[in-house]
Amino acid sequence: MKRSVLVTLLFTLSVGTAYAENVATPIPIGIGVAQTSNVALLGEEEVVGAKIAEKYFNAHGGINGTPFKLIFQDTGGDEAGAINSFQNLINRDKVVGIVGPTLSQQAFSADPVANRAKVPVLGPSNTAKGVPQIGEYVGRVSAPVAIVAPNALKQAIKEHPGIKKVAVLYAQNDAFNTSESGTFQETVKKMGLQIATLQKFQTTDTDFTSQVTAVLGANVDLAIVSGLSADGGNLVKQLRQMGYKGPIIGGNGLNTVNIFPVCGKYCDGILIAQAYSPSADPKNVINAAMAADYRAKYKKEPPQFTAQTFTAVQVFVEALKKVEAVTKKKITQLDLGKVREELNKQIRTGSYITPLGKISLDHEGEIHQENFYVAKIKMDANGKTGKYVYLK
Ligand code: ALA
Repeated sequence: MKRSVLVTLLFTLSVGTAYAENVATPIPIGIGVAQTSNVALLGEEEVVGAKIAEKYFNAHGGINGTPFKLIFQDTGGDEAGAINSFQNLINRDKVVGIVGPTLSQQAFSADPVANRAKVPVLGPSNTAKGVPQIGEYVGRVSAPVAIVAPNALKQAIKEHPGIKKVAVLYAQNDAFNTSESGTFQETVKKMGLQIATLQKFQTTDTDFTSQVTAVLGANVDLAIVSGLSADGGNLVKQLRQMGYKGPIIGGNGLNTVNIFPVCGKYCDGILIAQAYSPSADPKNVINAAMAADYRAKYKKEPPQFTAQTFTAVQVFVEALKKVEAVTKKKITQLDLGKVREELNKQIRTGSYITPLGKISLDHEGEIHQENFYVAKIKMDANGKTGKYVYLK
């Protein structure tokens, strides 16, 4: 045999062998969210939700008796970090699926990597339009802006029926904020209100003097802010410091107690739509268990990002059980490529009773969820601590 043919044959065999590799025990599931950078203000709550789910579901038998293990890979706050984290989880850690990334902006770069490798991804917090359409291996448990955001506007109008002129502000360098603001702008118009000023900024901005000046000049009755925690929090603070007195709606990027140190006492009163309520349904056993664990550790109510990430892990766990049922084999007896492929199919079948209530994922990987809420931030007299008060 010619040397070149032999080399090709050996190479093909070795690649073939590497691919036909069984899933490890405990079964590895990847968590690629932001543990560093400003985006960790959101990602931190996701890590907590994932860890609570790992403990809970392993204590309840894991995958039909086989334990699973979460492998955490920090994405940081940008696209490159998310791609790197996903590549490590896919190729080095050989996970069956990935929960992540934190931002839609990161999902549009990192999810195609998983999609090409045929590794199922569940976005715990990606709410921009178009995320499930990235590819057939991409799904999410975070309801999109078009479904969630209008709820906050309806609540603001209920509280302030005289609203006519609206200021809309958004971070134009971020995919989710651009998408969310688009929904807010459409809803404002549909409700017969006027966008008196439309202001853009960057997620890296810290000085919002020009935007606030424009808002004050437009004499608006409502301000709607789509930013991430740090920029959004600072913008709210500067709106109040410079004299804006009307109601403020914050988008999903502000939906964390981690904005309290940013806007302090000025966070008070911000209305934010919610895809989760800790006390929505007292009969929801799984939510009660998750919330109890969270409260015991943190002495406060569990936030939306925690509940959504718990839910993403839960969907993987339940879908892995379904994979065992249809293949009539243990996950660990199956080839990794086969598990990833079958898992992706099973994620999209049936429904799940989760802390978010009953959910299902359609064939595109989009979540269908029944209930949404609105909360208002109530800061304590010290201006440092506070809470989300649910209104509906
Ligand atoms: N909901 C935000 C996003 O999609 C965190 O980027």
